Amino acid sequence: MKSVVVAGSFNVDHVWRCDALPAPGATIAGRYSTGPGGKGFNQAVAARRAGADITFVCALGDDAGGALARQLAAADGIVLAAEASTEPTGTAGIYVDSRGRNSIVIGPGANASLSTEFMAANAALIGDAGVLLAQLESPVESIEAALGIAREAGVLTVLNPAPANAPSSISLLKLADVLTPNETEFAALLGRHVGERVEADDVAALDGASLHALCRKLSGNTVVVTLGAVGVFVSHDEERLRGDSQPYYRVAAESVQVVDTTGAGDAFNGALVASLAQAPDAAFIKHVRFANQYAARSTENEGAAVAMPRMTPADAG
Ligand code: RIB
Ligand code: NA
Repeated sequence: MKSVVVAGSFNVDHVWRCDALPAPGATIAGRYSTGPGGKGFNQAVAARRAGADITFVCALGDDAGGALARQLAAADGIVLAAEASTEPTGTAGIYVDSRGRNSIVIGPGANASLSTEFMAANAALIGDAGVLLAQLESPVESIEAALGIAREAGVLTVLNPAPANAPSSISLLKLADVLTPNETEFAALLGRHVGERVEADDVAALDGASLHALCRKLSGNTVVVTLGAVGVFVSHDEERLRGDSQPYYRVAAESVQVVDTTGAGDAFNGALVASLAQAPDAAFIKHVRFANQYAARSTENEGAAVAMPRMTPADAG
């Protein structure tokens, strides 16, 4: 099996669980916990627990957060390629309400110093992978460099364009064989890059043909729009169906008892690439179904990286 390289962020998450998200000016009490997070690390842990061999390319500070990242990566059997930063390790402040919804503030810290030079130094590692997965919580030039190196080497590239307010460009999006926005990121990318105004809340209700047309405007490659409790929408280029019989389709969400949706998108992305790496010739819909199941399971547990279930495509059947 070829390995997966995940390039991106690590954060120490500080989480407060409260009845409702605090309004401006309000002081409320919540139950506090801390644990590992960051979209990159969450995705790496998910992909690892879904059965793939993982190298995680990131930037860490010389502090307790950096030590935590190293210790947890080792515990999960994730190989780390960490650039040393003089900034503090990334952090996130997260409020989770009683319905499992969240608000997040990140302090990028060391994540902001993940460099293009470091990607170039790791070109052999990236070029040897089966799949490269990246997000946008790290400098966009560095993510673009990683995707470019992978593309050049014929490695399958998956870009999770999160968070929604991260800078991006059409040239960046073109480097992704598979683009995986959620509805908010999808609406933001459409507005920014192809002049299509769609409200995030309206995306899930669009009919398949309209959604497919919007995906085609955004990318010449496969687009997977994750729609939370509604499920997932997949749109392929008609010439490249990746083993599927239809150019576009929906996969319904699994019904679960949601405790905490923090990292659910990360669970989906990690499981998707793990499945792609383990069965590169399977129809794409099989990977999506597995990722959908995996992400649903992750919402039944509290936390981000620690919530990732141990479930491989073989377990899921
Ligand atoms: O996607 C969830 C993650 O976003 C959290 O773990 C937090 O660190 C932020 O990066
Ligand atoms: Na969770």
